[in-house]
Amino acid sequence: MKLWKGRFSKASTSSADEFNASIEFDQRMYREDIAGSIAHAQMLGKQGIITEEESQLIVKTLKEILADIEAGKIEFTIESEDIHMNIETVLTERIGDTGKKLHTARSRNDQVAVDIRLYMKKETAAIDTLLQELMDALEKLAKEHTDTVMPGYTHLQRAQPVTLAYHLLAYYQMFSRDKERFADCLARIDRLPLGSGALAGTTYNTDRDFLAEKLGFASVLPNGMDAVADRDFAIEFIDCCAIAMMHLSRFCEELILWSSVEFSFIEMDDAYSTGSSIMPQKKNPDMAELIRGKTGRVYGDLMSLLTICKGLPLAYNKDLQEDKLPVFDAADTLKASLGIFTEMILTMKVQKENMESAAKYGYMNATDAADYLVSKGIPFRDCHEIIGRIVLHCIGKGIAIEEMTMEEFKSFSEKFEEDIYEKIAVRSCIKAKKSKGSTSFESVKEQLRAIQESSK
Ligand code: ARG
Repeated sequence: MKLWKGRFSKASTSSADEFNASIEFDQRMYREDIAGSIAHAQMLGKQGIITEEESQLIVKTLKEILADIEAGKIEFTIESEDIHMNIETVLTERIGDTGKKLHTARSRNDQVAVDIRLYMKKETAAIDTLLQELMDALEKLAKEHTDTVMPGYTHLQRAQPVTLAYHLLAYYQMFSRDKERFADCLARIDRLPLGSGALAGTTYNTDRDFLAEKLGFASVLPNGMDAVADRDFAIEFIDCCAIAMMHLSRFCEELILWSSVEFSFIEMDDAYSTGSSIMPQKKNPDMAELIRGKTGRVYGDLMSLLTICKGLPLAYNKDLQEDKLPVFDAADTLKASLGIFTEMILTMKVQKENMESAAKYGYMNATDAADYLVSKGIPFRDCHEIIGRIVLHCIGKGIAIEEMTMEEFKSFSEKFEEDIYEKIAVRSCIKAKKSKGSTSFESVKEQLRAIQESSK
């Protein structure tokens, strides 16, 4: 039986019920819904809107319902449409008229808004933990690879030598900003919509501050119409998920490249790879590819909710029921991706020697050779041109710059001395970086120190 049966002379068709229902996906908010209802019932009792005995009976029964849901004893129905009405229906079946009083001074509009905010607070905390675990893994790997030299790329062309630790710490910074972004977003999720009624407030002497305190919200949303109508906090949450996925995806792309025979910089653990149904030699980095692919889905979630909200007149519209699917999907996908990614990088094998030998070829010390001539008083633009000619010469001979003889060096510039060989050796190039935040061994150690300091 529908909770609004009074106004209607005809029952809805089962296809309309099915189309209208959200229970299939919003049942995962049962804990939040019950928490919101318990706080609401306590508030109603405290304010004398219902009696204390009624309030206590409702609270006690809601707790029993919670236990029964967890024990799998309650079957939700499409007829009761969503999690809010399913729980209220069970409550009323159990305690009759008292159960019917729970919805005094409340609307499903503020109820659903409080449920999703509570749910997202929990998800934000879980994501925060997973991000921290990933950052810890990166820190651990970086510490192990402060001396692992590899090519640094721009345009995916060998550019300048760096250390793997430096490369990993670049991602550490990205994920630490993702964490900040979620914390920032949490500040806007953490505001209470409950008590706003359908849109205009209620005629009862409610206590929204009490509700906020009971439910652990930092503050009360000041305008009831805004409280039930906007989902900007959810859009922002998915945006945070999308950005974190984008970072994971870039990293995955690199790991996919690095595990190819062409690069051979890493080898994924067997446990995180798959084989081919036809080609016996294959070992595919499926996890990394899937994370890259799932990133597209999360972008879709973001676009989906932005579009759902676009053009909605105030206040609540049923369109908003569709907010949950993208929110749940984005959070589930990010959590699963973060978890598997961390395991994957902690188990992969780094092929240091291959990284290092790749760093020796590709003229990545050309900038350092130019800097050498600058130190001898030649203006940088001229040095750039001289070294450019040297590189062209070396490409022709199929040798590295440091494989030229002293005579060859001198034929390009009289300023070259014996120390050029030492100055353009791969580790010297790394060591010579002086700017704050560089790849120099010292700077990377400093970056690691700062990370340790900030996590104290
Ligand atoms: N299932 C609904 C949702 O998710 C709950 C709110 C319904 N409110 C209403 N006025 N029909 O949005």
